[in-house]
Amino acid sequence: MTTPTHAGPSSLGYLVFEAKDLVRWQQFAVDILGVHAQPETTERVLGLRIDHHAQRLRIERGERDDLIAAGWELDTEDELAALVAHMRRAGIAVEPGNDELALGRRVKQLFHCTDPNDLRHEFYFGPATAPMSEPFHSRVLKSHFVAGRLGVGHFVAAAKSKTATHRFYSEVLGLRVSDYIKGEVAPGGPVLDATFYHTATGRHHSAAMAEIPSPKKIHHFMLEVGDMNDVGLAYHRCLKADVPVMMGLGHHPNDDMFSFYAVTPSGFGVEIGWGGAVIDDARWTVRTYSRLSDWGHEMAHH
Ligand SMILES: [Fe+2]
Repeated sequence: MTTPTHAGPSSLGYLVFEAKDLVRWQQFAVDILGVHAQPETTERVLGLRIDHHAQRLRIERGERDDLIAAGWELDTEDELAALVAHMRRAGIAVEPGNDELALGRRVKQLFHCTDPNDLRHEFYFGPATAPMSEPFHSRVLKSHFVAGRLGVGHFVAAAKSKTATHRFYSEVLGLRVSDYIKGEVAPGGPVLDATFYHTATGRHHSAAMAEIPSPKKIHHFMLEVGDMNDVGLAYHRCLKADVPVMMGLGHHPNDDMFSFYAVTPSGFGVEIGWGGAVIDDARWTVRTYSRLSDWGHEMAHH
């Protein structure tokens, strides 16, 4: 057992995607998901807000339709330095990001490295916030996104090796195990073996991983809304706009989330959820669940 010399990131602060079709992504993000497009959005980059942070989702035009970086927030420069030092002691090649990269990510300072699944992780402090005169505004949400200190949401990574990925997330990055789900996805179907990880601010999971066959680095990412009706309304917007549903409405037993999954313009999923648990480490018991969902989340066939 190694003793952690740092508290790990406070939250998953941002996600960076690469996509071929930014026009479709902007329509999907604004009209279906209900996020807020930045006015400085260009032909090459789409910057999206879900709260007071200047940018929570960044979509860069490119050939890969995939997640290209996960951004982990540290509260101070000292905490960032401590995490980087810890990762280097663990043998990870951590590089500083230059000013151009920091500007694009809308943060003061950052470092980056690559994990055993070739997914890039970035570590930063000092996120830019939007001016008070530009409060977050959604065209379609009744409520708001649940973000702030809890971060942007979560992603589920496709792991090549469960062991190597677990070591990276827990020992290197300093994430904490929330729980496990080990069981058949559907009766007689493939067996899922997923591990869920949280950060210090306690969103039930900011990352999860499983050895799932996938052409993408992630199965899905998740955004949480503040009203249960906003999940139903988003589902209804998908049906009306012919956005494919990956998994229908349902409920997860581990994070207590009511959600559904839509297919993004890049082919991976986005989960729109409500009611996700927040973990208090002093009172949390790590459990293993045998089912992904206690009801619903039926796989769509299309
Ligand atoms: Fe999820």
